[in-house]
Amino acid sequence: MGTLLQAQALYGGYGGADILNGTNIRVESDEIVVIVGPNGAGKSTAMKAIFGLLHVREGKVTYLDEDITNAKPEKMVRRGIAYVPQERNVFPSMTVRENLEMGAYLLSGDLSDRMEHVYELFPKLKERRHQQAGLMSGGERQMVAMGRALMIDPKLLMLDEPTAGLSPMLIDETFERIQEIRSLGIGVLMVEQNAKQALAIADRGYVLATGRNRFEDTGANLLANQEVAEMFLGG
Ligand SMILES: Nc1ncnc2c1ncn2[C@@H]1O[C@H](COP(=O)(O)OP(=O)(O)OP(=O)(O)O)[C@@H](O)[C@H]1O
Ligand SMILES: [Mg+2]
Repeated sequence: MGTLLQAQALYGGYGGADILNGTNIRVESDEIVVIVGPNGAGKSTAMKAIFGLLHVREGKVTYLDEDITNAKPEKMVRRGIAYVPQERNVFPSMTVRENLEMGAYLLSGDLSDRMEHVYELFPKLKERRHQQAGLMSGGERQMVAMGRALMIDPKLLMLDEPTAGLSPMLIDETFERIQEIRSLGIGVLMVEQNAKQALAIADRGYVLATGRNRFEDTGANLLANQEVAEMFLGG
């Protein structure tokens, strides 16, 4: 199908010195692409820059061959890009169902089909649809956040640390769901601290440090790379 997303030589930050220093990221359709790297490397910043939440000072973001550099997040959503931030990714006072509805508020048309698809992927969300999202466990909230993102029927799903704070069992389950999402023909770009496990399911990965690409390769090759293992994956 070709290239979904291409971020080329991104520079930008929060007003002070640049945090991104020439970051490159590419996602082909049907790929799981993982960004790993130390805390403060600029992983979340790169995601925000791609999604139009942080000004790209220099560089270019293209999506399906269209230049979307510094476009508004709303436009990204309309184009089929969904983004789940690292924090505050559900509306805590709303029910699960209302959270899902909010996910698609920019789009017109009947939401019930989309909601059924999300419930098929996450049956627990259907059981809990009337529960307030803020009262759910961390793992359940991550499901709500992912489900909400899927409500726009995206071509590209961007996830910032979807397994943060989850138990080993829930981490496994989340990675399984992510593989299932890819099998639906959705490209996935995710940042992960559970780097080894994430790279194991990734088609390709990037190691980011100080806003630069340090390594990029297939997930398997990055896992097998001695230097990457010692410096970034805890040996
Ligand atoms: N809103 C902000 N305002 C100013 N500086 C910020 C802001 N958010 C992040 N930074 C700075 O940008 C740098 C990169 O942060 P970023 O959140 O992108 O790192 P990260 O790789 O996602 O780290 P982590 O693994 O801890 O999530 C850090 O030095 C951080 O202090
Ligand atoms: Mg981060």
